[in-house]
Amino acid sequence: MDMKKLLFVGFGCLLLSGCASKVPETPVTLKSALADKFYIGTALNQAQFSGRDTEGIRVIREQFSAVVPENCMKSEVIHPEEDRYDFTQADQFVAFGEANDLFITGHCLVWHSQTPPWLFVDAKGKEVSKEVLIERMKAHITTVVSRYKGRIKGWDVVNEAILDDGSYRESKFYKIIGEEFIPLAFQFAHEADPDAELYYNDYSMAFEGKRNGVVALVKSLKAKGLRIDGVGMQGHIGMDYPAIEEFEKSLLAFAELGVNVMITELDLTVLPSPKMDVGADVASTFEYQQTMNPYADGLPEDVDAAWTARYNEFFKLFLKHQDKITRVTLWGVSDGDSWRNGWPIPGRTDYALLFDRNHQPKPIVNLIIKEAQQ
Ligand code: XIL
Repeated sequence: MDMKKLLFVGFGCLLLSGCASKVPETPVTLKSALADKFYIGTALNQAQFSGRDTEGIRVIREQFSAVVPENCMKSEVIHPEEDRYDFTQADQFVAFGEANDLFITGHCLVWHSQTPPWLFVDAKGKEVSKEVLIERMKAHITTVVSRYKGRIKGWDVVNEAILDDGSYRESKFYKIIGEEFIPLAFQFAHEADPDAELYYNDYSMAFEGKRNGVVALVKSLKAKGLRIDGVGMQGHIGMDYPAIEEFEKSLLAFAELGVNVMITELDLTVLPSPKMDVGADVASTFEYQQTMNPYADGLPEDVDAAWTARYNEFFKLFLKHQDKITRVTLWGVSDGDSWRNGWPIPGRTDYALLFDRNHQPKPIVNLIIKEAQQ
């Protein structure tokens, strides 16, 4: 090689290496590591979709690929009076999801909890008839789903209608309409947006009774020719419940029906439970006691390690069944946001999510990323 060429090559290398060291490396995040596996989502609260919680928003943008509203689409918020809807927050939530290129799920159309006071009674306070409640349910579903047609990609159509033993919950919807409130809800949602995915969502899905009840429900919807795309397993889990093998059995039982499985409301409480298998019944609350709030000043190392290991077992399970799972959604961004600080006992300090109170990733985040990359 003559001198000129040598100089040229040398200069080129210098340039290249100079450039390489200047190109910042893209950090591996949850959403990039899981991109070809399943959506990794989070529930959003008002401080986030309104733009106030800037640190939370940074984490959402960096780490998550899907969002669901924690409260703002529940009927008590979005439909406070029969003739009045309030879409202020819901519109903001959807705009936030779109602006950040996130898969948007709606939560939830028909649920016994967080309903407005007018829903089940007439002007005199008397319980409405079956026909009236069906009409009200139809109007609610049609109005809400149509408004976000094509923008909200999937809906939790019915939430928590089956009890742990597989029987129907004796909700107002069930008592007034009967079990057909569920197929009707799916029908109305489909009519309002034929392209939207439709889901059934529930907690304590690892129980055999609930598993069988939900399997029977999905089969009956399919037998009626109704659209159902997925089953959401809420995933409000604890250190001792559920048994991961039982959770896996349910996951497989749902997938076998030919629907997608989603882990929709994942959080892992590290706090003692006031009763075994507390599930996620929002109505089931207990009085505050100091002894039930042992980690107000921080988590001891061994407890922290056990918590990380338990989360890791669940994520390993999700990765093992990535062909069946379309989304894993955390019920909140950082520990300070989590409803588990207030439920089932108010006023506690819990550590249920993947980011700490300062919005820093916990060690579990890197473990998930590593395992996803294997
Ligand atoms: C919870 C919210 O996180 C709380 O802020 C609210 O006070 C009660 O509801 N199952 C569900 C969720 O489907 O909508 C619930 O969310 C938690 C249990």
